[in-house]
Amino acid sequence: MPIVNFVNEKKQLQVPDGANLRQEAMKAGIEVYPHVHKILHCPGLAQCGSCRVLITKGQDHASPMGFLEKARLKLSLAYIGNEETMRLSCQTAVHGDMDVVTQPPLNLFGENFFS
Ligand code: FES
Repeated sequence: MPIVNFVNEKKQLQVPDGANLRQEAMKAGIEVYPHVHKILHCPGLAQCGSCRVLITKGQDHASPMGFLEKARLKLSLAYIGNEETMRLSCQTAVHGDMDVVTQPPLNLFGENFFS
C-alpha cells in the first residue's frame, strides 16, 4: 500500500492503491483547503481549485491529469512555476509513495513566477 507523506503536517498515511488524495487527507484530519475555502469549496469536482497541493516527490505515482483538472489549474496564478508538481487533490489518485505539501502559498514574487 502506498505511503503519502504530508510534509507540513509531518504525518504519513498508508492508503489503498488508487485512493483519492483529498479524501484520504480529510479522513486523517489534514486540511487541504486554505482560509475561507474551508467552508466554500466545490465537492471535489475540479471546479473551485482550492484543494491544490504540491506533490514534491513521487509525481509519477499520481494518476494522470485529466482535462478538467488541467483547465482549472491553468486558471490559477498559483500554477505558474509549479506546473510539474501542482495537482488538485480531489482529482488525484495515489498509486505509490509520494510527498505532498498542502495549501501551497502563492509565489507571486518568487524566483519561479517570471521564469
Ligand atoms: S475540491 Fe474543488 S477543485 Fe478540488
